Amino acid sequence: MPNLVGAGTEAQDPRLAELLERMSAIEAMGGSDRVERQHGLGKLTARERLGVLLDPGTFEEIGAHIEHRATDLGMDRVQAPADGVVTGVGRIDGRPVYVFAQDFSVLGGSLGEMHAAKIQRVQDLALKSGVPIIGLNDSGGARIQEGVDALNGYGEIFKRNTWSSGVIPQITVIMGPSAGGAVYSPALTDLIVMVRGTGQMFITGPEVIKSVTGEVVSQEALGGADAQLSRSGVAHLACDSDVEALAAVRKLLSYLPANNVEEPPVLPVEDPVDRPTSELRHLVPLQSAKPYEVKTVIRAMTDRGSFFELQQGYADNLVIGLARLGGRSVGVVANQPKVLAGTLDIDASDKLARFVRFCDAFNLPLVTLVDTPGYLPGTQQEYGGIIRHGAKVLYAYAEAVVPKVTVILRKAYGGAYLAMCSRSVGADWVFAWPSAEIAVMGPEGAANIIFRQAIRSAPDPEAMRREKTEEYRRKFAHPYVAARHGQVDAVIDPGQTRHHVLRALMALYNKRDEGPPRRHGNIPL
Ligand code: HXC
Repeated sequence: MPNLVGAGTEAQDPRLAELLERMSAIEAMGGSDRVERQHGLGKLTARERLGVLLDPGTFEEIGAHIEHRATDLGMDRVQAPADGVVTGVGRIDGRPVYVFAQDFSVLGGSLGEMHAAKIQRVQDLALKSGVPIIGLNDSGGARIQEGVDALNGYGEIFKRNTWSSGVIPQITVIMGPSAGGAVYSPALTDLIVMVRGTGQMFITGPEVIKSVTGEVVSQEALGGADAQLSRSGVAHLACDSDVEALAAVRKLLSYLPANNVEEPPVLPVEDPVDRPTSELRHLVPLQSAKPYEVKTVIRAMTDRGSFFELQQGYADNLVIGLARLGGRSVGVVANQPKVLAGTLDIDASDKLARFVRFCDAFNLPLVTLVDTPGYLPGTQQEYGGIIRHGAKVLYAYAEAVVPKVTVILRKAYGGAYLAMCSRSVGADWVFAWPSAEIAVMGPEGAANIIFRQAIRSAPDPEAMRREKTEEYRRKFAHPYVAARHGQVDAVIDPGQTRHHVLRALMALYNKRDEGPPRRHGNIPL
């Protein structure tokens, strides 16, 4: 919104006076009472949010004068400034971004035909210009009075979300209610940030749930930030306030390119390329079943302070996040031995596969840290479709064409060894620590099967089991067989992990690779 206050004598011009009057009506949006209510809930208005999100003075508004065209159900008497959504383009860290911000103070931020058309316009411009789009959602959903025109508006938005997917980064911030089908535009975007206490997403609200299933649940428990972050895995970040959420968006964008044909930004870095990571030499316990914190490895090897974890709290047996190595953005994937021994289950597989595809779409090289005994066994997992979900991991890594560097820290058994970006599914470079164990399965399981006869017929079967397990461990539970067979490129000193990974990545930055021509693959969903 241009600042016309203080236009001085020019304001005497009747045309300018009319413009000023119209502008200030739009500026006031739903009026001071409703704005006060918004503030009372700890929420900012749409314009205030854009003020926090964008570099100062960079916002160029589009369609401020657009109004609804509805006449039914009393709408002919309703004034809805900007039709309840502020749209336009601005800058974040000097780089352009398209934005829309729904304003709850106007008809509850509800989405009617023209409100939707404004969003579609910035979606079209963002896609055409190869510029990220950020949606600040705070809305009662489809505008009830506008019926099918409102629903059509959502459909047109979903279509644009889908066509933009993998071309420009799409980020949604849930800063108020997001109910019914309104959750599906956010769900089609790349990243969802939610504000605790005020941002809520659900398909059916507590009232409907109570009448259909009898369950009693509050809005926050049902679809609040923590529920959607840690229970459903729908959200990627939960923040304590509007300001914190908007700062998170600025930070996310600092890792991302503007579009799929641009490289991510390169930031100046003071952290030396060859900084030793000596603290990693004694991190992995000698007993291979003992847990440790894999984030220690991530933080030690990436540029200081650059690791930005996503979906923390959901499927914590797998860690994902953005980071920098030598000032360049990377996506990091790591098994977490502290949770479920680092096994891959259904949720971890979904989390991993979607992140790998996101990184691949936006030219973020992948660094994978492996320590997993395998896919999680159990009827719950099998009946839940671990085969289908686990296959996503293989598919996502095999399909990804960005540079892929893998470091095997400890266990890498069976299908999970293959899935965690092994050489065979497409790793460009595989390192292993001396503590790596690469095998079809763990020594105990392997000895029980291949030495079953010898164990059964031994005078002391338990002693024989221990002896055979030890024999297997000595022969196979190390990285040197895999290295001899070319599945590992180098066994490295953990104290030099940063140096080795960075050198590999630097050698891969110009990698050119593409799959066969096809409309799209058929990932097991
Ligand atoms: C028209 C709406 C509206 C809507 C809210 N308002 N939602 N107007 N269409 N969908 C209006 C209210 O009438 C009210 O106007 C003002 O916005 C503020 O709303 P309140 O109810 O006073 O606010 P609050 O108490 O904070 O409750 C917020 C809310 C509630 C939980 C979001 O408004 C609500 O339940 N709204 C309906 C949600 C819903 O079912 N939406 C349709 C979802 S289906 P006044 O003038 O009184 O201040 C959908 C289909 C999409 O979206 C399909 C895509 C596939």
